[in-house]
Amino acid sequence: MSNGLEDVIAAQTVLSDVDGARGTLIVRGVSLDDLLARRFEDVLELLWEGFLPVENLAASLGAARIRVFEQIRSDPALLELSPTEAMRLMLARLPDGDSAETALALVAGPAVFTPALLRLKAGHQPLAPDAALPHATDILRMCTGKVHSQVQAAALDRYLVTVADHGLNASTFAARVVASTGAGLTSSALAALSALKGPLHGGAPGPVLDMLDAVGTPTNAGVWVEEALARGERLMGFGHRIYRVRDPRADALKGAVRMLGAARAINPVRLAVAEATEAAALEALRRKKPDRPLDTNVEFYTALLLEALGFPRMAFTCVFAMGRMGGWMAHAREQVLTGRLIRPKSVYVGPVPKMVA
Ligand code: ACO
Repeated sequence: MSNGLEDVIAAQTVLSDVDGARGTLIVRGVSLDDLLARRFEDVLELLWEGFLPVENLAASLGAARIRVFEQIRSDPALLELSPTEAMRLMLARLPDGDSAETALALVAGPAVFTPALLRLKAGHQPLAPDAALPHATDILRMCTGKVHSQVQAAALDRYLVTVADHGLNASTFAARVVASTGAGLTSSALAALSALKGPLHGGAPGPVLDMLDAVGTPTNAGVWVEEALARGERLMGFGHRIYRVRDPRADALKGAVRMLGAARAINPVRLAVAEATEAAALEALRRKKPDRPLDTNVEFYTALLLEALGFPRMAFTCVFAMGRMGGWMAHAREQVLTGRLIRPKSVYVGPVPKMVA
């Protein structure tokens, strides 16, 4: 038995391949490096080919943003919840189904609901989508009403592309399990989002910022890291179940963070603290865990990127879902079309009924 299902192959997929030894990610035959030259809408089209046919995907996604915006109801109870929990509730109101239209609504959901929730929490009215804008540009505009710079829109677009799909991670597996029962895309999306929420998966970037706040200054990074490890804590944004070398997505996002730095669109002190903390963490982890390669994962630079774009840390998981929803939808359809009901076995280790003499 493998407690975390390590090395267990539970699906055959044409969607993406994560090579943990080489540190590479391929999405439908395209390497991450080449994927970064494409827009999120084009990556969605690539992922959905043969599973969710959509004509003119960019325009259809824009129309879906308008459709889901019309579902927003003012509900004070929503504002009591964390953005991820509130968004889960809003997505749950979308009808279930297996069509490309359902999938488009689910991709549009986090993109529209997250800015709306953040505005409602701040006492402002939600801003309606502009179907003609690129997806990433429109998300930023719906947050503040302002037109963001090209470099900011490009940074969010790169983030969405980078996280769109990543093999059989916990949330994607959850999506496939639910899809395998025939429950529908909305049900799969809700299961996946619930899995993504945990700090060992998509909930890590918020705690990365908490860590950087605690480090405070670049010169404190070494001491802070040593003390955290001595307390038995895990350093957020480091380590990965599959990668035994650096997560290639960390470099993709570090590139975007550097672009923001060059455009003076990121706090330079924050950047300096982050770079010092990364260096101290890598040095300490190599020294303390020589047998277990632990390197920077996607969440470390995600935290810096999303903070620089103005997203509060409580909404980071929602932004992750904006990108990953595309992958979840493709996997759910692939499971329905090429897989079968997922139903593994367990080993019973509990008490057995007493034998009657
Ligand atoms: N900091 C310190 N020690 C670590 C870290 C870390 N970030 N990650 C792993 N270790 C240590 C563990 O304590 C363990 O040590 P031990 O053998 O002495 O007990 C050893 O490395 C192996 O750890 P596992 O838990 O077996 O590794 P696993 O593959 O299960 O964990 C995980 C992967 C959950 C991502 C882990 O590295 C972690 O908790 N990282 C911090 C949280 C994080 O960044 N999550 C985001 C992941 S990326 C994503 O999901 C999108």
